[in-house]
Amino acid sequence: MKILVVGGAGYIGSHMVKMLLGAGHEVVTLDNLSNGHRDAVLGGKLVVGDLSDRGLLRQLFREHDFAGVMHFASFIEVGESVREPLKYYRNNLANTVNLLQAMVEHDVFAFIFSSTAAIFGEPQAIPIDETHPRNPINPYGRSKWMVEQVLADVDQAHGLKSVCLRYFNAAGADPEGQLGERHDPETHLIPLVLQAAAGRREAITVFGSDYDTPDGTCIRDYIHINDLCQAHLLALEHLLAGGDSRAYNLGNGQGFSVREVIDTARAVTRRDIPVIESERRPGDPARLVADSTRARQELGWRPAYSELATIIEHAWRWEQTFFGRQRLAATA
Ligand code: UFG
Repeated sequence: MKILVVGGAGYIGSHMVKMLLGAGHEVVTLDNLSNGHRDAVLGGKLVVGDLSDRGLLRQLFREHDFAGVMHFASFIEVGESVREPLKYYRNNLANTVNLLQAMVEHDVFAFIFSSTAAIFGEPQAIPIDETHPRNPINPYGRSKWMVEQVLADVDQAHGLKSVCLRYFNAAGADPEGQLGERHDPETHLIPLVLQAAAGRREAITVFGSDYDTPDGTCIRDYIHINDLCQAHLLALEHLLAGGDSRAYNLGNGQGFSVREVIDTARAVTRRDIPVIESERRPGDPARLVADSTRARQELGWRPAYSELATIIEHAWRWEQTFFGRQRLAATA
């Protein structure tokens, strides 16, 4: 099957392209390379372009007979979304509408959407299942929840079927070591902790140690990037087999505190990781843990890398190989 992967040069998208190719699909990646990397697209065809370009979209859908579309191209920084909401609504919402328009016009009716735990806002109960009220507390989360609502309407009106996958904390790297996380600037905990372990930053700053949790730091549900991609593959198969629109929360179902992540990283890397205690980061809920029972039951999803140490080990291998090579090249 030929699949369009929008944002396939980014962190999650690039792992997805690799998995789709491995599963025998043909892949076309559309990416504007604003955050993605050309060399992260390991196969298939790469089209460099933007979802705001409706002419390009029309051309792409005329040229290729896509069986389905996966959409990873969005801005993801909560703090930035508060400062620049229109940037988020333009890219995450309006550009997604352009993509859906092109799909409907060209009779492509299977859509996998990267949604987020941020659509739930401050959790009312833990673990968070799909019935938890949607009450996003920042423009990033709202932009994603708006798209979920648009998708329900587009299904109703045009029969476009979608699966919304609400990610908790995507982490780790390709177990074969070819791909990993390369955000710039990096804001996510695990890569930052590993930068500190590698000596690429002086310390890891812990944002708040006075939360109502056992060690006072925030608890998150870290899910291995390959397990996340596996769920996308199953969701795609569900739609291609004629399945209905669905939404799934994707996490490990296990929470780890910021301190537990740092301690596990110390054990995995056998390096010293200096810590700076700091104020809370605005907008961080104390706990976010997923209930992914629905994905397990309906899609048959079975995470293969649920150990935090394994997730960190794969991210560490990437930190050492990719960024180690970069360091060597810089000093050569
Ligand atoms: N943290 C630190 N120090 C850092 C970075 C993070 O202590 O330098 C803490 C954060 O305060 C948080 C935890 O580590 O408690 C995890 O933070 P991340 O930034 O790695 O991830 P978030 O849970 O904030 O974000 C994730 C996704 C976002 C999404 C959000 C939804 O990465 O894209 O969940 O709630 F918006």
